[in-house]
Amino acid sequence: MATIALLGGSGFVGTRTAAVLAGNGLDLRVVTRRAAHADHLRVLPRLRVATADASEPASLARALAGCSAVVNFIGILNERGRDGSGFRRAHSGVATALVEACRLARVPKIVQVSALNAGHPQATSHYLRSKGEAEAILRGSGLAVTVLQPSVIFGPGDSFLNRFADLLRLMPGIFPLAMADARFAPVHVDDVAAAISAVLSRNDLGGTTLQLCGPEQFTLGGIVALTARALGLTRAVVPLPRWIARLQAAVMDFVPGKPFSTDNYRSLLLPSVCSTSGFAALDLKPRSLSANVATALGIAGPLRDYDRFRQAARR
Ligand SMILES: NC(=O)c1ccc[n+]([C@@H]2O[C@H](COP(=O)([O-])OP(=O)(O)OC[C@H]3O[C@@H](n4cnc5c(N)ncnc54)[C@H](OP(=O)(O)O)[C@@H]3O)[C@@H](O)[C@H]2O)c1
Repeated sequence: MATIALLGGSGFVGTRTAAVLAGNGLDLRVVTRRAAHADHLRVLPRLRVATADASEPASLARALAGCSAVVNFIGILNERGRDGSGFRRAHSGVATALVEACRLARVPKIVQVSALNAGHPQATSHYLRSKGEAEAILRGSGLAVTVLQPSVIFGPGDSFLNRFADLLRLMPGIFPLAMADARFAPVHVDDVAAAISAVLSRNDLGGTTLQLCGPEQFTLGGIVALTARALGLTRAVVPLPRWIARLQAAVMDFVPGKPFSTDNYRSLLLPSVCSTSGFAALDLKPRSLSANVATALGIAGPLRDYDRFRQAARR
């Protein structure tokens, strides 16, 4: 296989995927908006970093030249404004530019990292709608496109379990939780990386969509309770009524960084669970959240002290 391009590969899922693919001996090119975003990946062998504007086909085509496939990780959970244009730019806008860039650079294969419920007929969030639009653009391109739809992704360095862990540590006693009944089948980041690796190694998966779920289903309340137990904290998770969750989201829309937003609220209205198993189709067995929550939180596992020292040294 020639070089694999990882578009937006500097992020959480891209970073773990780069490690898996490098371990398999592949040549990699991480395509990023700013080279410094991918500095942490330069330790991997046969990995190069290219900069590009992912909304500009010509810029993207230059970065993709000589690649045999591209994995698109670009995605945002929140936009600056509230009208959906930021989501459309990052999702369907990038998909449009990517199709054109692949034609220009003669890259025949795309793996699109999408999300469960993308394009679902009942999806009301800009996130899910624009992710669905991106899928439709890629599927209609005539290129060999495989769409991966993961549920929420956990693992070391995630911003899901680790964000709740930070909040749990801050709040003694009672933990009020919006959307506590939202359902997920959390999937480990290394299993998503393994799925991407498997898709890249096969030539029969163009035109397919694979849902990626872990083996267990939880409510959000159950995940927060599991996180608290793993941290050795006693917390009573108190579900907030829907109307308060909606109100909280509307207020948080105006908080810098949007820790929760109306768009997040709308995405959570649909259960993020699989109806088919992409892992079974790839002959892979995903690991469970309950057996891996401590390593995801950095409180167990071989890298526990390493991560702590690195954080302390700011390196
Ligand atoms: N994490 C989850 O739980 C989860 C669940 C389901 C689906 N997904 C999907 O999986 C993909 C990867 O997720 P992740 O958690 O790894 O996300 P991430 O850590 O935020 O990484 C995404 C990367 O996309 C690039 N990017 C971000 N905003 C951009 C913009 N406006 N224009 C161009 N590039 C931009 C960034 O790369 P540079 O800064 O290097 O350009 C960033 O590192 C996303 O598409 C996400 O929607 C994630």
